[in-house]
Amino acid sequence: MSVDRTACPGQPFAQPGAGVLAPSRTLRFWLDPANLAARLEQAGPVVPTRTGPATAFQINDPALLRKVGTDEDTFRFWGPDPSLRDFNEDGVVGLEGAAHRERRALMRPAFTASRLTALGPSVQACTRRLLADLPTDRPLDMRVEMSRLACGLLVSCLLNSELAPDTLSKIATARSTLSGGMFWRYALAPWPWVPVPRRRACRRALAELDEAVRQVRARHRPDPDSGDLVSLLEAAAPGNPHVVQRDIRALLIAGMETSASTLAWACYELGRNPHYQQALREEADASPDSSRLHAHQLPLATAFVQEVTRLHGIPFLVRRTRHQTSQGGVQIPAGAVVTLPLGALRRDRNRYRDPDVFDPQRWLPHAEPPPAPTALLAYGLGPRYCPGAAAADAMLPVALATLAGSRTLRPARPGRKIGVSLELTPTPKGLTMYATPCEPRLADTGPAPDTNSDSVSGSGATSTEKGHT
Ligand code: HEM
Repeated sequence: MSVDRTACPGQPFAQPGAGVLAPSRTLRFWLDPANLAARLEQAGPVVPTRTGPATAFQINDPALLRKVGTDEDTFRFWGPDPSLRDFNEDGVVGLEGAAHRERRALMRPAFTASRLTALGPSVQACTRRLLADLPTDRPLDMRVEMSRLACGLLVSCLLNSELAPDTLSKIATARSTLSGGMFWRYALAPWPWVPVPRRRACRRALAELDEAVRQVRARHRPDPDSGDLVSLLEAAAPGNPHVVQRDIRALLIAGMETSASTLAWACYELGRNPHYQQALREEADASPDSSRLHAHQLPLATAFVQEVTRLHGIPFLVRRTRHQTSQGGVQIPAGAVVTLPLGALRRDRNRYRDPDVFDPQRWLPHAEPPPAPTALLAYGLGPRYCPGAAAADAMLPVALATLAGSRTLRPARPGRKIGVSLELTPTPKGLTMYATPCEPRLADTGPAPDTNSDSVSGSGATSTEKGHT
């Protein structure tokens, strides 16, 4: 398949089709490799940048970036920050040191290869069920719909549970409020007198999330060997439901946030590059058993997700110094914010040919130059490396292939400006699309894979039954 490389020559944000991307000035700064390369040459490996009255330190040197990302004795991860206590206290994200390592080790058996292998078909079945409820006759806010899909998948396929349909819808709507709330609380922490936007809405969203976590625990179906995530957490804290509640909450926030934004940006790119919708369908249809998809049989869907991450993934990681330190010859005071500009690295001309062009082909197994997915640092690094990384790799390509196989996505307002929200993970703001059912194909008319028959949506209907009218 050929890709139209002339769509946006040299213009990172002017992308016609699904809408013109219009990120804020702040975000533009984080994504612009010129800030990285030029600053590395002119200003050195660590660049102080003024944000309001405070100074943040941007790590420009990739080698130093790895050091900062892994050294928790000097640089504190954002999770345990006091400004985020309401969200993270007692959960894996809010713990440090030995307690953090223990909690991570506890979860590990739930992510073994044999368990992840089973994920593909259950993700396919769950995606079909969730898509069956999507209206076909009106534009959809893809940010909300992909949050619903991401949350439904996490709950059903990783947490072995289900949510009432109205709870799932509430969480999908609340995701953005929660994520933005966390972002602003952390960002404005040095100035406690500055009001954090939408504080009350964020508290309500957190309460809704807690209700969802209660449902997850109440409706949990343990695996026969009790090796699933929720069983492991429950067994490790008998008689302490508070800790389990906080860990499930952390997994839901972190997992839904990143998966939802990846899927929403994938929809944006499918709208701009409709030929990929057909290509993804063909790939899924050609897999050995198209009613039981597995990510490793979907190289194009995997490459598509990787390219979405490259262009739209988390633009920077953030840490605070625990004490004064000298890095790259620069003195950084205690309590200073240090940023790791992954977004700019991913658009660096020295690393990627035509870095501003959306080109999933660069990640295909035989691409030239050979792909190096680890260079993306999509899942972070060091002690905070994403524990759900392997699960996300197994789930998202299958969800994307199932989405492309059952719905045709079309921008509702072509040419409209698409904003980029400043949240934990930036998501496309104002991305409305039609999702019309595709023509039924042979693969859709067979029985849905027999996994997790209690649907998250509660309907149990496949896309064939409901969506393909
Ligand atoms: C496309 C999907 C995903 C992406 C891109 C992603 C990315 C990341 C990144 C970059 C970090 C490190 C953040 C930092 O160092 O500041 C992280 C941490 C984390 N992720 Fe993911 N993630 C994804 C999916 C998931 C899923 C599905 C889960 C749940 C099972 C999950 C759970 C977590 C948790 C709990 C942490 C915090 C780890 C800790 O504090 O030790 N993530 N993720």
